[in-house]
Amino acid sequence: MRRAGLAGLGLVAGLWLLAVVALAGLWSGRGAPEPGVEATSSGRLLRPPSQAAQKTFRALLTLPGQPLEGPGESGQEPPPPPVPADPPRGVAEPPVRGGIFWSRALEAQVPPGFSAEEAASWLRAAREARVVSLERGGCGRSSNRLARLSDGSRACVRYGINAEQIQGEALSYHLAGLLGIQERLPPLALARVEARGGQWAPVRDELRGSPWADGAVVSLARWVDNLTDVVAPAPWRAEAGAAATSGPRRLQPLSAGELRGLSQAQLVELVQWSDLIVFDYVTANFDRLVSNLFSLQWDPRVMQRATSNLHRAPNGGLVFLDNEAGLVHGYRLLAMWDKYNEPLLRSVCVFREATAQRVRELHRARNAAAQLLHLYRTREPLAGVLGFLSEQQAQLLQDRVDFVHKHILHCKAKAASL
Ligand SMILES: Nc1ncnc2c1ncn2[C@@H]1O[C@H](COP(=O)(O)OP(=O)(O)OP(=O)(O)O)[C@@H](O)[C@H]1O
Ligand SMILES: [Mg+2]
Repeated sequence: MRRAGLAGLGLVAGLWLLAVVALAGLWSGRGAPEPGVEATSSGRLLRPPSQAAQKTFRALLTLPGQPLEGPGESGQEPPPPPVPADPPRGVAEPPVRGGIFWSRALEAQVPPGFSAEEAASWLRAAREARVVSLERGGCGRSSNRLARLSDGSRACVRYGINAEQIQGEALSYHLAGLLGIQERLPPLALARVEARGGQWAPVRDELRGSPWADGAVVSLARWVDNLTDVVAPAPWRAEAGAAATSGPRRLQPLSAGELRGLSQAQLVELVQWSDLIVFDYVTANFDRLVSNLFSLQWDPRVMQRATSNLHRAPNGGLVFLDNEAGLVHGYRLLAMWDKYNEPLLRSVCVFREATAQRVRELHRARNAAAQLLHLYRTREPLAGVLGFLSEQQAQLLQDRVDFVHKHILHCKAKAASL
């Protein structure tokens, strides 16, 4: 009938469609949805998948390694889907390939973050714009401000109590660029506060009443509307109890064998979490999931609460905010926080392949800090003002990249031995 072409269908096709719709209604009434139809309807849409799609994906996960059964397998010939559609190629794949990489279909479902072009264009505009107002509230601690810029956009302005906070924020942003995960961070620019300068002229009075020192370098992070809280996903939420001195007692592993039963939406979120955990390990950022793990000592329900400095954008994508603890402050406090950060990294054995590849390249080139410096200087006009990592910090960065690489190899070997 497909071969007959559209021209000959006419009335027959109309009756066919009616029959199909009626049959689909009967199916849904019996709670036996047809996998291909649902999977296709959730397809590669960049929005949180529907309940139906979640059910479908869970069903697929109960048959690991098995191809999606064709509609004719039951012996009966079910009707074709009412709407011609692409075969649900991607969704039928298992969530992990090669033992340690998220499937391409899952990666394709990750809601887009800030594209490189979008970020570059906002940063250009923000650097040229004038700050037309500074408001308290909405951007965290009392020394931060919500700025309205003359181009109509808004930014959270962060003032560091000491220089290492702004340095950490800016360097972490560019390190995310080096790791290929920068789209998850709001575009970030440095700015020098100068009450007499043109950029700040409209807010001269507000500056007088602020705790900001004239000449200080602050960071401007693009404002993102309607962010919501994010609770750590199941693999880490199950964690219960941690000793004050020995760190987390047990972390549920995030590996290919542990994903059964998770919905597609959960898996898509885990794809982003795997990047976050690599990022936070490399930068030694303790001010996110790690700080929640730490708080387990006195708050057994902390993992059910919002994760610090992590939000969800309206399209479902995660937004990694406030990276000031990374690289500088975090490296200074390694002894205190690595007992949380390291087990957290070790608990993850599934990665985005592109992230693993960046890590491998940085490991092989043995010049992570030099590459970061190059990127920082190229992209941030005020890079020279705050200075860069010390030699010791640069070495720590390389060591941590190497550690992640070694961990990924370990996961690969483990997956191959199963
Ligand atoms: N770029 C942004 N877009 C939208 N909201 C933001 C942005 N930056 C910060 N916020 C809001 O302000 C809150 C605090 O931001 P941030 O973590 O950067 O500041 P903080 O001083 O460290 O505060 P906290 O101690 O609450 O973490 C965030 O949880 C978020 O609600
Ligand atoms: Mg914060």
